[in-house]
Amino acid sequence: MNILILGSGGREHALAWKINQSKQCDQLFIAPGNAGTATVGTNIDISVTDFDAQKTFCLEHNIAFVIVGPEEPLVKGVYDYFKKDAALQHIKVFGPSAYGAQLEGSKAFSKKFMERQAIPTAAYAEFTNENFEEGKAYLAKHSLPIVLKADGLAAGKGVVICQTHEEALSVFEEMIINRQFGEASAKVVVEAFLQGIEVSVFAVTDGKEYKIIGHAKDYKRIGVGDTGPNTGGMGCVSPVPFMDKTFMDKVEQQVIIPTVKGLEKENIEYKGFIFFGLMNVAGDPFVIEYNCRMGDPETEVVIPRLQNDVVDVLLACHTGELASITINASPESCCTVVAVSGGYPGDYEKGKVITGLDHTFSDKTIVFHAGTKTAANGVVTNGGRVLAVTSFGPNITDAVATSKEALKSIDFEGMYFRNDIGFEFAQ
Ligand code: AMP
Ligand code: GLY
Repeated sequence: MNILILGSGGREHALAWKINQSKQCDQLFIAPGNAGTATVGTNIDISVTDFDAQKTFCLEHNIAFVIVGPEEPLVKGVYDYFKKDAALQHIKVFGPSAYGAQLEGSKAFSKKFMERQAIPTAAYAEFTNENFEEGKAYLAKHSLPIVLKADGLAAGKGVVICQTHEEALSVFEEMIINRQFGEASAKVVVEAFLQGIEVSVFAVTDGKEYKIIGHAKDYKRIGVGDTGPNTGGMGCVSPVPFMDKTFMDKVEQQVIIPTVKGLEKENIEYKGFIFFGLMNVAGDPFVIEYNCRMGDPETEVVIPRLQNDVVDVLLACHTGELASITINASPESCCTVVAVSGGYPGDYEKGKVITGLDHTFSDKTIVFHAGTKTAANGVVTNGGRVLAVTSFGPNITDAVATSKEALKSIDFEGMYFRNDIGFEFAQ
């Protein structure tokens, strides 16, 4: 079958790399893709939210399966668009309905869902302009730190952890009254702070059955030793040593099963990935957030470890055959180290020529592209996160050493990466 992937990051390169190996995949297209996806499929210049252009392309190129990478088209209803159009109904879309995507698209929606399904999460309250004064009183009495979250999508910037009541009040006002994140912060969720280690678990679901496809620990801070501002993710490791059977059993029983049962009970149409962002609080999982997509850079370790034909797994969510699938993952350790543009996560320049991509790397290494594009002068930087260098090894330390070795051959002006990914698991 012909397959179209929507997206242009490291996540989409990892998905395209894997889908290209599927016996079910004939032609593979990526919209809009990056310089890396162009090596495993054909990039097409269509935006992830231009559903009309996607429709025309799918009909002209006999696309049978659309796999959605980022959240934005899902929250904006790409699944529903294809489902409602008679000309497109034969095309399967991998991703939840717009309603299901609210698990990521609205913090208030996901908190209420968790409350209804008794899923462990931080205590919270939600406020708008209407009950702003009540919110101020709530904040004044809240224990510190206080977590404030813009309800809607805010490009990963909508969560602020406030260390003082004054800061919380000012952020609260900034979000609700001054609409710091536009309509996304018209409603604000105020949440108790959870102390623990953050980890991610990934599953696919058809809204009734589910399969866990992997887990990872993401390194979100820009600086060595987990310091400095948050980023989209500077690297990942998988499997995570402390995510043992005892912890994963708790995740499955207390979080994943009630979530999928909740989708079924509430008739939420959902055939896609679910990303469980969890806090491990003294050995117990709490949900920090749901995402209706894979993580980035988590995909760059979870997907390479997956030994199944990924198209078999994703299609099974549409054919009712998910229960009969057995997920197999490589037992080796896998890491990814993200090389970013100088200045990221603040301002950075684009268009820097990347050298060394044609080097012969270890057969344990895969160089995934994130913010790259092909220009007249070669492959150039085109985003904050530029490359995700994934490697396998007998343990995390060896895998990370192999990625760092590969990065010695790669360069672009201002390139930076964290040299301590997996530091707490050093051997
Ligand atoms: P989110 O967009 O919900 O993932 O939040 C962004 C980041 O804020 C998360 O990745 C966590 O590091 C942190 N965070 C969110 N909620 C909490 C919480 N209740 N307690 C502690 N940290 C949190
Ligand atoms: N790496 C975190 C995310 O994809 O949301």
